[in-house]
Amino acid sequence: MLTQTELKRNAAAAAIEFVLPQLTPSTVLGVGTGSTVDLFIDALAPHKHRFRGAVSSSERSSARMAALGIPVFDLNEIPSMPWYVDGADEVDHELNMIKGGGGALTREKIVASVAERFLCIVDESKLVRVLGKFPLPVEVIPMAREVVARRLAALGGKPALREGYVTDNGCQILDVSGLAIDAPARFEAELNNIPGVVCCGLFAIAGADVVLMSTQQGVRQLTK
Ligand code: A5P
Repeated sequence: MLTQTELKRNAAAAAIEFVLPQLTPSTVLGVGTGSTVDLFIDALAPHKHRFRGAVSSSERSSARMAALGIPVFDLNEIPSMPWYVDGADEVDHELNMIKGGGGALTREKIVASVAERFLCIVDESKLVRVLGKFPLPVEVIPMAREVVARRLAALGGKPALREGYVTDNGCQILDVSGLAIDAPARFEAELNNIPGVVCCGLFAIAGADVVLMSTQQGVRQLTK
């Protein structure tokens, strides 16, 4: 029986096999955040001479890549990337995702929006039929925290402030439980329209293009 860490390592290794043939000396990869991505970064480092570098979605991933000698670029310098590689907290069969458990959702969505395709790497515990069991992270401007919380409650959620946590953007996170998100893209648009919301952790308007899901039987590839 493989542990969850071993499953994550297998997903990371499969992602390396997936992207490696596509790397050229001019390639810049988008790299996300989380424990699965940490394993991806570690496995990517030995191949650092085969590509130009990466744009990162967090200070945490930037520091890890820099320490391993992978050049990290500012997104403002990079107009396009072939792939954005990141984990997820939940993924459904349509490849919609909940992300942001690690708090990096806004930068993740920004970097992903610049990449041509999103490669999601998860272990099988992340696959769900309906998104929402994992509390949905919503990044908010601090002065709007309470008004946004009331709007989220009116939409049927139970928002809880992530205590003592400040995002890389100087904002706060409300983790919203009690949701069963049956129309993810519509709900994402609705949340995006609430004044004071910086970003929500639903990735449905633009979900994943490919999911590499690590199972006890091997890594499965899911595509739309
Ligand atoms: C970071 O903000 C998140 O979106 C992560 O991608 C997500 O929490 C997955 O993390 P793990 O790979 O640690 O499960």
